[in-house]
Amino acid sequence: MQNYADVLKDFAERHAIGLTVAAVAGIGILGLRRWMAGGVCRSKARLDGKTVLITGANTGIGKETAMDMAQRGARVIMACRDIPKAYSAADEIRQKTGNNNILVKKLDLASLKSVRDLTKYVQENEKRLDILINNAGIMMCPKWVTEDGFEMQFGVNHLGHFLLTNSLLDMLKRSAPSRVVVVASVAHVTGRIHFDDINLDKNYDNLVSYRQSKLANILFARELATRLQGTGVTVYSLHPGFIRTELVRHLFPHWAWWKRMIASVLMMIVKSPWEGAQTSIYCAVEESLTNETGLYYSDCARKKPAAEALDDAAAKKLWDLSTSMVGLA
Ligand SMILES: NC(=O)c1ccc[n+]([C@@H]2O[C@H](COP(=O)([O-])OP(=O)(O)OC[C@H]3O[C@@H](n4cnc5c(N)ncnc54)[C@H](OP(=O)(O)O)[C@@H]3O)[C@@H](O)[C@H]2O)c1
Repeated sequence: MQNYADVLKDFAERHAIGLTVAAVAGIGILGLRRWMAGGVCRSKARLDGKTVLITGANTGIGKETAMDMAQRGARVIMACRDIPKAYSAADEIRQKTGNNNILVKKLDLASLKSVRDLTKYVQENEKRLDILINNAGIMMCPKWVTEDGFEMQFGVNHLGHFLLTNSLLDMLKRSAPSRVVVVASVAHVTGRIHFDDINLDKNYDNLVSYRQSKLANILFARELATRLQGTGVTVYSLHPGFIRTELVRHLFPHWAWWKRMIASVLMMIVKSPWEGAQTSIYCAVEESLTNETGLYYSDCARKKPAAEALDDAAAKKLWDLSTSMVGLA
């Protein structure tokens, strides 16, 4: 025994610098990981008897958000494009939460017809809608167009959700107090709305397009909140953090091996999907937000978005443009 202690002591003395560097690096990485994890929704609110509709709930933070809503007792409508994947996510949610009140419905946000089909189903078959979570998103894909000819990221991230929300407003009002949660991104900070070329036909750039769509999310939430004043329907937009999900699926395959390697290491310190879902859950259930509307959140706290996202004239102009693009005018 004495021998082992001597060997350890000798090792520590001879490698003192290396061991100190390793310990400091380890503590630093743990601290960074903890900081990246962000806030946690502490609300114990129950949702028994309430209905929640979540888009893109078959994977990523949408699935974690659906899991939490189910845990709180809600009827959860998972509005998804990939139905087999959604069935398997729904089975997992039923098993883990013991809540069997989970419904999978088809929704392809790149098709206005699909959005209309879903809203028709909900209007005709559901009694109420208490929380709508516009979560689905696509990031930095090539220059693709939706079924209706809109640039894909603007079409899916903003226009599809714009039509979905507007078509369900009457139900949300009837179920008030109710909430609309819009999952945006900090990417909006460097975004702008290209009113003169909304589909970016002149000069497509996949990042410029993603930023535009995420700025559109926040402007939409802001204008919607203004239009819903006094109805009991409140609106929240948010940045969920940087999360290990499938969102990078259109980027990774085109990167050089070394970029993929660096990204894979970074993926180990970013948020897990559960951590990434916390701000969406917070906006959906936190009691202290009942009287807040039209604001922007991150890490389960109110944050100030970029100046472009506070531009009421742009929000109104985007609303009018979106109304005519989806045929609501
Ligand atoms: N991950 C991050 O670091 C991060 C950061 C900031 C903001 N966000 C935002 O968080 C939200 C959720 O993303 P995530 O990270 O969880 O990504 P994800 O794992 O890729 O999940 C995205 C979800 O959106 C769905 N979706 C994509 N296109 C659709 C369409 N046309 N119609 C219907 N559903 C569609 C996907 O369905 P399929 O399975 O059928 O493709 C999937 O369920 C997005 O709005 C994203 O912009 C994420």
